[in-house]
Amino acid sequence: MTARVAVVGGGLIGLAVAWRCVQRGLDVTVYDADEGKASTVAAGMLAPASEIHAGEAELQRLLDTSARLWPGFAAELEEATGVPVGYRDEGTLLVALTGDDLREVHRLCGVYERAGQPVHPLSVQQLREREPLLAPGVRGGAHAPQDRQVDPRRVLAALRKAVGDRVVPVKVTDLSSVDADVTVVAAGTGTTALTGLPVRPVKGQTVRLAAPAPPLRHVIRGYARSRPVYLVPRRDGELVVGATEEERGADISVTVGGVLDLLRPAAELLPEVMEYPVREILAGLRPGTPDNAPILGALKAGVFVATGHYRNGVLLTPVTADLIADLVVTGTPPQQLKPFSPDREALWT
Ligand code: GLY
Repeated sequence: MTARVAVVGGGLIGLAVAWRCVQRGLDVTVYDADEGKASTVAAGMLAPASEIHAGEAELQRLLDTSARLWPGFAAELEEATGVPVGYRDEGTLLVALTGDDLREVHRLCGVYERAGQPVHPLSVQQLREREPLLAPGVRGGAHAPQDRQVDPRRVLAALRKAVGDRVVPVKVTDLSSVDADVTVVAAGTGTTALTGLPVRPVKGQTVRLAAPAPPLRHVIRGYARSRPVYLVPRRDGELVVGATEEERGADISVTVGGVLDLLRPAAELLPEVMEYPVREILAGLRPGTPDNAPILGALKAGVFVATGHYRNGVLLTPVTADLIADLVVTGTPPQQLKPFSPDREALWT
């Protein structure tokens, strides 16, 4: 008999796990109360080197693996659904406004090099040749060709189409009420209430601007008077400015301080943004964990978890989906999942 799999949570992770399980011939239902998803707030940077800290070697390997999977994942999803997902490979420019900011960019270049990721220093002239609209005063930067982007909202729409009517609008508050052979909890910050796992909300505000024409080709990871900001351009002119990082519990209010922290450095690096209409300001909740790494594996018999992706949820979607679907089918964690087990010591000390 075909195994019945329940996936709790219909964000990128839950839907991608569901899609891979459907492809493996399983009978899948996704429970999704549609209550706000980090996936719809996220800008979609695929940045395997710059979003983690020194010493996170196992996480680095998982990020690298998933970065390599993204081109194929995006192509397969587009082919299966006809929905373009906005995968772009022009890379990211690191851009510094002041001398101090340039020192920060040089420090970050060292992080890329230690992570084995290519990064090429650029003079002011080279930067401005690549992106003529950057402020005349920028001091220099670098090109990180492997830091790419995808549009998470399009990926979400594509995955919804791929999974079809297997998504039901039901909020799960108690796992014992789920009728399935196997349950996968992919509920982001909602995972704690369902499982007791230590996942905390880390708030991020993003602003979406509507440029009359695409103002940039590259993603910009900028520093302006020690304020970090990223600018993610879509082909239709949308420019996503992100993101704050706030430890404020489950608060998703948008605040003046948050918006200033984003738009002030954005305008200093790309003065033209002063002219752009504001389309949306949103706050989302990244699922953070005590050691910044995701929680992937078996919680108890018949219950698996895929959560805690913190700043790397979009990037880690393809590898998470493959490995969790393998786990569901075989019942045995693939070797790559072992460092991310729900019972690892770092989660509980
Ligand atoms: N990965 C970008 C962020 O979490 O803001």
